[in-house]
Amino acid sequence: MTPTPALLEVSDLRVHYHTSRGAVQAVNGISFSIREGERFGLVGESGSGKSTIALALLRLIRPPGKIETGRVVLDGVALRDLSEEGMRRARLAGIALVAQGAMNSLNPILRVKEQIRDGLNDHGLRLSGKAFETRVAELLASVGLKRDVADLFPHELSGGMKQRVCIAIAISLKPKLIIADEPTSALDVVVQRQVMDTLVAVQSQLGASVILIGHDMGLMAQVVNRVGIMYAGDLVEVSPVADLFREPLHPYSQLLIASLPSLHQKEAFQGIPGLPPSLLNRPAGCPFRSRCPHAMERCAVETPPLREVRPDQRVACHLY
Ligand SMILES: Nc1ncnc2c1ncn2[C@@H]1O[C@H](COP(=O)(O)OP(=O)(O)O)[C@@H](O)[C@H]1O
Ligand code: SF4
Ligand SMILES: [Mg+2]
Repeated sequence: MTPTPALLEVSDLRVHYHTSRGAVQAVNGISFSIREGERFGLVGESGSGKSTIALALLRLIRPPGKIETGRVVLDGVALRDLSEEGMRRARLAGIALVAQGAMNSLNPILRVKEQIRDGLNDHGLRLSGKAFETRVAELLASVGLKRDVADLFPHELSGGMKQRVCIAIAISLKPKLIIADEPTSALDVVVQRQVMDTLVAVQSQLGASVILIGHDMGLMAQVVNRVGIMYAGDLVEVSPVADLFREPLHPYSQLLIASLPSLHQKEAFQGIPGLPPSLLNRPAGCPFRSRCPHAMERCAVETPPLREVRPDQRVACHLY
């Protein structure tokens, strides 16, 4: 069997925020790839670096943040080598982001269709009259919204509708990769499920890949094919979702899975005793060692690299 080709390859991505207290090492040299048509989940506690990764992939990190190292290749194109103009075109057309909190940053004084028009214009697509109306109706239909939603203002929409509008704007130029950063975190359970279904429907219409960012492992497990687990700026495990639930390898993944009541209950992550380390001047060694039930002497001095230890299962831990 030939493996599915990679759509996105990320190697040694490192992002720091240079603050007056020092460099916050938010993303610590991570590598992963996304396959064509795949839905990949990025899971981790708040502050583990998930949004920073999303912004770095689109080159949207702003000062005091800086991409220190890394190579990001989308469909054979090295994104960090593109000019600003080239990158502007790659955003949305190649790689689209539904940013964290996007549904709350829709412009309150613009009707939905004007927000879609801005999205299209930003990427050099100017449609007018009938062609524009048709495109708006198509986009709304693809996220399960009626045509007349085009004439509404954000305050006239429910949370789920706002999130669908954000998805419609993100996919307006048919991207190959859609990144959705906590798209359901502010929504109730029923609406969460509907938004997830919308995202999956849109993905399959476009034949795109998806990176779904979240902290709710239960919800994630129902939607994605593979999961990457983030801890304090490091990717500590990358596994197919079924393997992760059957046999989580990293001690942090094991605690995460154990804290879920069952695969079918959509409860948020319950919490693991202790706190993640400060991301300022991180010491060497395993970032999880202060909370790990299996920590050994070696874990304090040697940082474990992410390695493939079972077919398609990668883990960063000295136990393997
Ligand atoms: N603009 C910023 N300035 C300083 N630190 C930041 C900034 N943005 C994020 N961080 C820090 O980077 C780390 C990762 O943040 P983030 O990527 O937002 O995590 P997540 O999305 O997993 O919650 C956190 O410690 C956060 O405090
Ligand atoms: S490397 Fe050591 S401290 Fe880190 S997760 Fe593995 S056993 Fe625990
Ligand atoms: Mg975030």
